[in-house]
Amino acid sequence: MRLDRSEIEARKLELERSYGPWTSHNLQLRDDLYTIRPGVTGGNEARLRRIVQMVTDLAGPIDRLRVLDLGALEGLFAVEFARRGASVVAIEGRRANFEKLRLAKDALELDDLELLVEDVRDLRLERHGQFDVVLCLGLLYHLDAPDVFALLSRMHEVCRRVVLIETRIALHALDPYDHSGRRYWGVFADEPPAETDPHSRDALWSSIGNPRSFHLTTSSLWNALADAGYSSVHECHLPPHVSERSVRVTVAAFTLARERILSVPALNEEQWARLPEQRTPFAVRAARSNALARLRVRVPRRIRSLTARVYGRLTR
Ligand SMILES: C[S@@+](CC[C@H](N)C(=O)[O-])C[C@H]1O[C@@H](n2cnc3c(N)ncnc32)[C@H](O)[C@@H]1O
Repeated sequence: MRLDRSEIEARKLELERSYGPWTSHNLQLRDDLYTIRPGVTGGNEARLRRIVQMVTDLAGPIDRLRVLDLGALEGLFAVEFARRGASVVAIEGRRANFEKLRLAKDALELDDLELLVEDVRDLRLERHGQFDVVLCLGLLYHLDAPDVFALLSRMHEVCRRVVLIETRIALHALDPYDHSGRRYWGVFADEPPAETDPHSRDALWSSIGNPRSFHLTTSSLWNALADAGYSSVHECHLPPHVSERSVRVTVAAFTLARERILSVPALNEEQWARLPEQRTPFAVRAARSNALARLRVRVPRRIRSLTARVYGRLTR
């Protein structure tokens, strides 16, 4: 049954009372009634333009696709693809976000948008089926190891063409993590503590149940995708999206068969080379070391800044 404008407004108000205002996704619900406000509100619209263009270019036409949106938040991506005629499944683990997404589905009468309140770590081929496109946006870096590796494998399993991953990356290879006999590098980061205001962005955008997450370096992300069986991985630069908050990559990871080479058959017997990590600058390693941090506070500031200048000259 079609909701009229006053019903949409009433439900929106009720949701804001229960869960706080929308924190991220600005969606048009009816005419000039938006989840946040009319117009472009921030960087998300540019992210949406990038993702829609990537899906069209790599797997379109969109209205023939089955799309999975993992960690769908308030539904900007899931709703856009459903409005374009795709059959969409959106998985979101937080009730507050899920209910807001449900309002968009009802207001826009999106029958082909299926919403699930589930943990993305429970993604299973037998339960969720196969998809042409999987969206894993702003999510991977909220998972801890080994879940991050498990999710890369599960997405590969359920996807018959391309997985789009937009994720924050670690700039330095500071923390090693061994998984299935292979070493990966990145940085362990803290997720918001339990006492964080449950209506805040920090809480509503964060992981579910894991107090820390593992951010892979780019080399380790490429290695992990290779190890999970992806056929090729491509990084997107345009349409542009500039993130002020962190260093991110947007990649298309294909799940097609790996081609055999005819002209050099011996190549088919070789493992893919592992991509090497960038060397972590000494200053970054030193800043991480507890012993050095303790020593540092005992050294007078003048000597510290002189040492830093000399080091800067030598390593320029
Ligand atoms: C930073 S937001 C990104 C949202 C959206 N995909 C985007 O790119 O704008 C991460 C979302 O994933 C959800 N999430 C985090 N961990 C999850 C998990 N294990 N299972 C399901 N959802 C999860 C959060 O509730 C949040 O909505």
